[in-house]
Amino acid sequence: MLNDLKQYAKDHNVPIICDDGLLFLKKTIKDYQIKSVLEIGTAIGYSAIFMALEGCHVTTFERNKTMIELAKKHIEPYQNQIELIAEDALLFDGNLGMFDMIFIDAAKAQYQKFFEKYTPYLKQGGIVVCDNLSFHHLDIQKVSRSTRQLIQKLERFKTYLETHPDYQTTFYDVGDGMSITKRVE
Ligand SMILES: C[S@@+](CC[C@H](N)C(=O)[O-])C[C@H]1O[C@@H](n2cnc3c(N)ncnc32)[C@H](O)[C@@H]1O
Repeated sequence: MLNDLKQYAKDHNVPIICDDGLLFLKKTIKDYQIKSVLEIGTAIGYSAIFMALEGCHVTTFERNKTMIELAKKHIEPYQNQIELIAEDALLFDGNLGMFDMIFIDAAKAQYQKFFEKYTPYLKQGGIVVCDNLSFHHLDIQKVSRSTRQLIQKLERFKTYLETHPDYQTTFYDVGDGMSITKRVE
């Protein structure tokens, strides 16, 4: 099942978490005994299904209509464990529970907004995991203006995490750059 989704993503240029990223998630779920996850960025449901198979209950946001339809189909066998919220995470104003982990894997320019909006839903001792923080290790001098602006925005987000007095963040050179943020208790 997961291999079919991975192949679909490859064939249709859907960005999904890389294999190293999945291993990192697996270890993180185990190390922190994660049972409930809020994911921002479902795409076709690949990482959500992976986390469900690791025993988590996953609530996941997706705003793209095509992705929503595909994800609905794929997560159908896991409907007891995965709840898809087919809305823009930044516009959502419904009710949510509290989560052991928030996994941010959506529009890179909005990471700080996701972080600020959803960290109130972290349980005590909960963590925030971000993916794609290094943007493929691109050389900032050799990219388009818009890509440069995106890289600079991600750098500002990393500084925001590093200097935030209420949180402690560790960055990992896994895939395109991942991080784990914990609230300072
Ligand atoms: C990198 S993909 C997610 C990959 C997925 N987590 C996986 O590894 O299988 C990012 C997805 O986030 C969605 N997205 C971006 N911004 C969003 C937002 N504000 N609210 C909901 N979904 C968003 C995009 O439509 C896209 O499908």
